[in-house]
Amino acid sequence: MRGLTRRIFVAGLLGASLLPPAFAQTQRRYEYPPIQPVTARHGMVVAQEGRAALIGAEVLKRGGNAVDAAVAVGFAMAVTYPRAGNIGGGGFMLIHLARKQQDIAIDYRETAPAATTKTTFLDAKGEADPQKSREQGLAIGVPGTVAGLVHALDKYGSGRFKLAQLMAPAIELARKGYKAGDEFEDTGQSSIARMAKWPSTRKLFLKPDGSLIARGTLLVQSDLADTLDAIAKGGPRAFYEGPIAEKIAAAVRDAGGLMTVDDLKNYRAVERPVLRGSYRGYRIVSMPPPSSGGVVLLEMLNILEGYRLKPDDPQSTHLMLEAMRYAYADRAHLLGDPDFVKAPIAGLMSKRYAASIRKRIDPQRATPSDKIKPGDATAFEGRNTTHFSIVDRFGNAVANTYTLNLSYGVGMIAAGTGVLLNNELDDFAAAPGVPNAFGLIGYEANEPGPNKRPLSSMTPTIVLRNGRPVLVTGSPGGSRIITAVLQVILNVIDYGMPLGEAEHAPRLHHQWQPDETMVEPTVPAAMVKALEARGHHVKVWPPFTSVNSVLVTPQGLVGAADTRTRGALAAGY
Ligand code: DON
Repeated sequence: MRGLTRRIFVAGLLGASLLPPAFAQTQRRYEYPPIQPVTARHGMVVAQEGRAALIGAEVLKRGGNAVDAAVAVGFAMAVTYPRAGNIGGGGFMLIHLARKQQDIAIDYRETAPAATTKTTFLDAKGEADPQKSREQGLAIGVPGTVAGLVHALDKYGSGRFKLAQLMAPAIELARKGYKAGDEFEDTGQSSIARMAKWPSTRKLFLKPDGSLIARGTLLVQSDLADTLDAIAKGGPRAFYEGPIAEKIAAAVRDAGGLMTVDDLKNYRAVERPVLRGSYRGYRIVSMPPPSSGGVVLLEMLNILEGYRLKPDDPQSTHLMLEAMRYAYADRAHLLGDPDFVKAPIAGLMSKRYAASIRKRIDPQRATPSDKIKPGDATAFEGRNTTHFSIVDRFGNAVANTYTLNLSYGVGMIAAGTGVLLNNELDDFAAAPGVPNAFGLIGYEANEPGPNKRPLSSMTPTIVLRNGRPVLVTGSPGGSRIITAVLQVILNVIDYGMPLGEAEHAPRLHHQWQPDETMVEPTVPAAMVKALEARGHHVKVWPPFTSVNSVLVTPQGLVGAADTRTRGALAAGY
């Protein structure tokens, strides 16, 4: 097992070892080194945190399938990547099973407690109160990760590994500790403030003077180790019922929330029919609602399929931005939890609808967003979410994105459990037309309500050719996730870029409201000028996304870990 780790480690770190020593400094200026892809013959895990990626690669090497590896990575990152890896949050897992040619979407999104209503996130004046939806117990959705990962393993694992075996590395890392690294150094001030409010979190992640634990500090998470151990031995019921659930419900209620032990007991991960589309001869499989990711991605791709796109071309970029604008307007108005709202999904994803949008797009001028549908939006805040992509030697693939919403979620560890809890309910439209932390607005389709799942942008995606995965991808970045995935797909399919370049290339984003064309600082000045000349309101934003993908080529697997956020690793064998 040791030797194995070392061999995978060497392969995996190939890219990282070539990084310039001044990486830390350059990263702060929002420049990031080129992505050095890692190649491997049999299996590949690309994840945002290196230890977790290696754990996953080891599972693959020992004969596990992509789902086994995903479960090991998912639990490991709850320990090693506390800002977004989690058991106190939720997410989506997309699976492709080679033998059965089957695609599966597991929705383990957080659910609003049964006592949630339309007015839960409003203040006394009836206005949306971001404190309530982001900073307090009310923000916390019933966590779905434990149910989701175990569901995946039970139904789609290889059967070679028991849950306890896959969780063992995570438990050991929590129990014995690991040295805090880049991850903590990159934590923003707003996240520190969010953590500082809760004694249970402060004690773990902050020094007595309120600053973050220093790089190299041994981070031991004993309560989390106990909680993981209980799950490993007793399965998900040990988390959703009994002492752990009681402690979580009590902590949420003490923080002003509404969660009860029944809410936890009633939580279920759900399989949803995957969304399928096509793009220039490729099949695209992605996440259905309650994520908007798949619908918006496929709508954009369908619109763009009608154009001949050229790389580094302002005209093509303009068309891409307009496609984004229209698709995000539809997102705001129409999408929500499918158990509560019926969205015209088939229509939104149809080629004919895309053709009708192309007729409305002015090839020369940006259409003001107000001309499309009404809306308003303000500032953006914080990040993080995390995505990993896995391909095994059997041709199975997993794309998994999960999150606590903002970095470290609500910042609160439920005392005595080690479980850092999410603030996912900010993804509801707290009030019609009022922006969430990512500036996204929504209306009735995404209003808060009992047992509802808030609309997400997470977009785990698998691109297939002739029934086989060729690209497995996804990203964090809130509203920007869907457009990041779009651009990686365009860069690979339309522009023929190698995967590292496809991920590294500067990204642009439009989300209808606010009516801004957001560009990364690395977008060339000439492109910015050309877009402004077409009427785009260009705003430079630091990179928010971090795409971790695997490309399947006839020569083998290529893993590319995005360098926009430090610490990601592609590990293969
Ligand atoms: O589900 C969503 O769309 C958001 N809660 C994701 C948040 C996120 O990506 C934060 N990250 N960078």
